[in-house]
Amino acid sequence: MKNRTSYGDKGFSEFLVTAFQRQLGHHPDDFQKPVIGICNTSSEVNRCHNHLKPMIEAIKRGVIMAGGTPLEFPVISLGEMFTSPTTMLYRNLLAMDAEEMIRAQPIDGVVLIGGCDKVTPALLMGAVSADKPAIMFTGGPMNNGEYKGKILGACSDCRHFWQEYKAGTVSEEELNEINSRLAPTAGHCMVMGTASTMAACTEAMGMMLPGGAAIPATHNERLSHAQETGRAIVRLVNEDQRPSKLLTKQSFENAIRVLMAIGGSTNAVIHLIAIARRRGITLKLEDFDRLSNTTPFIGNIRPAGEYQMEDFYYAGGVNSIIKELLSLMSKDEMTVTGKTIAENIKDHKVDEVYRHIIKPVHNPLYKDGGIVVLKGNLSPNGCIVKPKAATKKLLKHRGKAVVFQSIADMEQRINDPNLEVTEDSVLVLQNAGPKGAPGMPEAGMIPIPRKLLEIGVRDMVRISDCRMSGTAFGTVILHVAPEAAVGGPLALVREGDEIELNIEEKQLTLHVETEVLESRRKEWAPPELVERGYTKLYQQHVLQADEGCDFNFL
Ligand code: FES
Repeated sequence: MKNRTSYGDKGFSEFLVTAFQRQLGHHPDDFQKPVIGICNTSSEVNRCHNHLKPMIEAIKRGVIMAGGTPLEFPVISLGEMFTSPTTMLYRNLLAMDAEEMIRAQPIDGVVLIGGCDKVTPALLMGAVSADKPAIMFTGGPMNNGEYKGKILGACSDCRHFWQEYKAGTVSEEELNEINSRLAPTAGHCMVMGTASTMAACTEAMGMMLPGGAAIPATHNERLSHAQETGRAIVRLVNEDQRPSKLLTKQSFENAIRVLMAIGGSTNAVIHLIAIARRRGITLKLEDFDRLSNTTPFIGNIRPAGEYQMEDFYYAGGVNSIIKELLSLMSKDEMTVTGKTIAENIKDHKVDEVYRHIIKPVHNPLYKDGGIVVLKGNLSPNGCIVKPKAATKKLLKHRGKAVVFQSIADMEQRINDPNLEVTEDSVLVLQNAGPKGAPGMPEAGMIPIPRKLLEIGVRDMVRISDCRMSGTAFGTVILHVAPEAAVGGPLALVREGDEIELNIEEKQLTLHVETEVLESRRKEWAPPELVERGYTKLYQQHVLQADEGCDFNFL
C-alpha cells in the first residue's frame, strides 16, 4: 500500500484512489509497479530550468523501460536572477516543499531535477529527510559564449565587464553587445559557479549518475543521461537504496575533496553542511579546512581557473577529477549506480590532450584546495575566502575599515565621491547575513568604489556576513559567523578600525581592545525583524552560516 489520503476508512480510501488513478488514464495495475515521482522544477520564470521538458520525457521513458510508472509533479523553482531579494531566502522553503511532497504522495522513489544554484541543494535536503530512494538529475550548463574571440562565461564575465564599464574602459555599446552573448544557450551558468559546483558535489557524493554534472544542456548526451537516470531510479526502488543508506560522512568528504580540487563555489560549504545535517551528519568548517589542506587544486576552471564547463565536459568532467583524486578519497562509498565510486571510474582515462584543464595530482595548479577557512576575533565561528580567486598581494593585508551598516547603506554610499576610502581600506558590510538581510544575499563581492575603479583599482579586501556568487572573484571574506544581526563581532566594527587579514595563517583580526568592543556591545541593539509570513519564520529559525543556514527545526 502506497500513501493514501486518510478518510478514516482504509477500504474507502482505496476505492477512491482507484477511481482517480483511472481518471489519470492509468490501469490500477500500473500502481503495483514502482511509482516514480519526477520532481519537476521547470519554469518559464527560471531560465536555467526552462529547457527541461524533453529531458523529463526522456527520464519517463527510462522509468517505463525499467518497469516503473512515472508521475511528474511540480515543486518551487528558484531562478537566481528572478527571485527577490535572494533565492537563498527560499532554499529552505523549496526543501520543505520537496520533503513534504515526496513523503505525502504515493510514490516509491523520486528523480530530483536540479540546475540553478539553490535548487540542487534544496531538493537534496528534502529528499534526504523524506528518505525514499532518490537520484539527482541536473539540466546541465550552457555552452560557452564568445565576444571578439574571447570566451564569455555567465556570470564571471557579467561582473567583470560591468566593473570595466563602471571604470570607463568598456563603452555602453560594447556592454550591450556583450550582454546579448553572456547567456547564449539553455542551461545553467557555465563557469564553476554554484550550480556547476553543486552538480559536481552531488556526483561525487554518489547521488547522480557518473558524468552528469558537466554534460552541456544542449547535447544529445544529456537526453541519454536522462533516460539512464529514469532506469536507475527504478533499480534503486527495487533494491530499496535510500539516501540514508548511500550517504555517509565519507561520501560528504568525497564531495568536499572534489569541491576543493575544482575551486568550486563557497556557497557549497553552506549547502553541504545543510544536506549532511539532514542526514544526521555534522560537517564542521574544520572538516572543510582539513580537506582543503590536503587536496590539490587540479581543475583549471573559471572563476578560479581559465576554462569553462563545456571544456571541462570534453576533459572528462567529474570522472576525471575523481580518477585523479581517488587515492585521497574513500573508494568504497556506494553510489546510485549500485557500484562504488572507485568501480564507477575503473575504466575511465584522463585524456592527455586535456591536461591543460585537468592537472595530474602530482603536478597540480596549486598544492592545496580552493577554499580557506579563517578564524579570529572578528569571526569566532569562522568565515571563508577563495584565495585562488583573490589578488596575491592582498592575501596578507592590514587596513582601515570603511563600514556599511546594511546593503541599502552600501548601495547608497559606495560610489559617493566624498567617501573616505583608499585602495588600502578594508570594506566591511554588516547586517547582510542569514537573519540580518534576511536570506544572506550574494552581496559579498562589495563593488569597488567608482573613484578607485577610475584610477585602476580592481580589488580590495572586503568582509561581510553574506555570500557571494560562485561565479564572482576578488579578495572577499564571506559568511562571517556569528553574523552582525545576532550580535557577532562584525556588528562592533567602526569606521577607521584596523583589520588584518592573513590568509597563510588563516587569521582575520580586528585590532580593537576588548574593553572597547565590550562598551560598543552595550550600545548595540538587534535590528528589527519582519513581522509576518515566511520571512518571519525564516528569521526566527535560520541557523548561522557555519551550521548550514537550515531551519533549526528541520
Ligand atoms: Fe541559474 Fe546562474 S542563474 S545557474
